[in-house]
Amino acid sequence: MTQTLTITRPDDWHLHLRDGAMLNAVLPETARHFGRAIIMPNLVPPVVTGAQAAAYRDRILAALPSGMSFDPLMVLYLTENTDPEDVAAAHASGLVTSVKLYPAGATTNSASGVQDFDKVRPVLDKMAEIGMPLCVHGEVTDPEIDIFDREAVFIDRVLDPIRRTTPGLRVVMEHITTKDGVDYVKSNPADLGATITTHHLIINRNHILVGGIKPHYYCLPVAKREEHRLALRAAATSGDARFFLGTDSAPHVDAAKESGCGCAGCFTATNTMPLLAHVFEEDGALDKLDAFASKNGPAFYRLPENPGTLTLTKQAEPVAFPKKITSGDGPVTVFDPGFPVYWTAQG
Ligand code: NCD
Ligand code: ZN
Repeated sequence: MTQTLTITRPDDWHLHLRDGAMLNAVLPETARHFGRAIIMPNLVPPVVTGAQAAAYRDRILAALPSGMSFDPLMVLYLTENTDPEDVAAAHASGLVTSVKLYPAGATTNSASGVQDFDKVRPVLDKMAEIGMPLCVHGEVTDPEIDIFDREAVFIDRVLDPIRRTTPGLRVVMEHITTKDGVDYVKSNPADLGATITTHHLIINRNHILVGGIKPHYYCLPVAKREEHRLALRAAATSGDARFFLGTDSAPHVDAAKESGCGCAGCFTATNTMPLLAHVFEEDGALDKLDAFASKNGPAFYRLPENPGTLTLTKQAEPVAFPKKITSGDGPVTVFDPGFPVYWTAQG
C-alpha cells in the first residue's frame, strides 16, 4: 500500500553550494525539491561584500539547469572589516537576506571569521535596527574547550552576551547539535530561531567512531551523544515555530573526506526530504514535517511560503538512492542513514 504526504514546497535554511564544477553538480540536487536556500558564503575567498554576493548569485542562477526553478537567498560573510552600510544597502535592495558569523577557525573556510566580537558590534547594531537576521556558527574555538562542549560554551560565552549587548538582533543558531541549544532557543521567546540538519536527527557520535572512523559522518558541529540527538528530534518534530530545516549539506569530494585529515561536512541534498519523512514518521509526527521544512523558516525570515508543493510517497520496497554523485572535481558521497528508507520525493 502506498502512502503519500503533500507539503508546501520546502526551503533549506543552511546550504553549501560551493562554486564552479561542484556548484554545477550539487545545485540540481537541491533545486529538485527545494524552492529556496540560504546560501553559505564560505567560499575561498569568502563572499564578503554586496558586490561579491551579486556575482555569486549570478553564477548560481547560471548553473541552474533549464526547467528548474530555485531562488538562492544570499548571505554575507561577517569579518572584522565588514561595512555596516554595505550590509544595509545589500539588504535594502533585496539582494542579501542575512549575515553569517563564523568564529575565526571554527569550521571549513572560516579563517576570515571574527576573532574580536566587539569589532563587529556596529554591524550587529545596524542589523538589529533594520531587522536583518544574523546566522551564527555557534562553536567556540578555544583549544582548551573539548570539541563536544564547544556549542554549549559558545552559548554562554559569546551568543548570550552578544544578544544582551545588541537587543533586538534577530539570530538563527545554525545547525544546533545539543540539548543546550534546544533549551536556549526555547527559553528565549523573541528574536531567536535555530536550524537543525537532517543528519543530526539521525546520527550520534557513535556513528562516527564505533567500528572504525566513518569520515562521511564527520561534520561540524560534530554529532554529540544520543541524548542530544533525541532533544533535536523532539524539537524538530514538535512543530515549534522556532525550529526549522537547514540541511548544512556540505559537499566535499571523497578524496578530501577519506583522508588523514578529512574535511568536515555531510552531503545530504540528494535524499534529505525522504530521510526527513522517515524520521518524522518514526516519531509519529508526519503532520509536523510541513511546519519544520516549509513553514517555520519563511515565518522567521518574514518571507512568503513557497507557492508549490512537494509530494512524499512511501513505497513497499526500500529506495535505492545514489551512493555518490559525480562532479567535475571528483565523486561526492551521498549521506547514508544506515537503515532502509521507503520514501521518495516528487516536486
Ligand atoms: C561546512 C563546510 O564544509 O563548508 N562543514 C560542515 O561540517 N558543516 C561548514 C560549516 O557549516 O560548518
Ligand atoms: Zn554549514
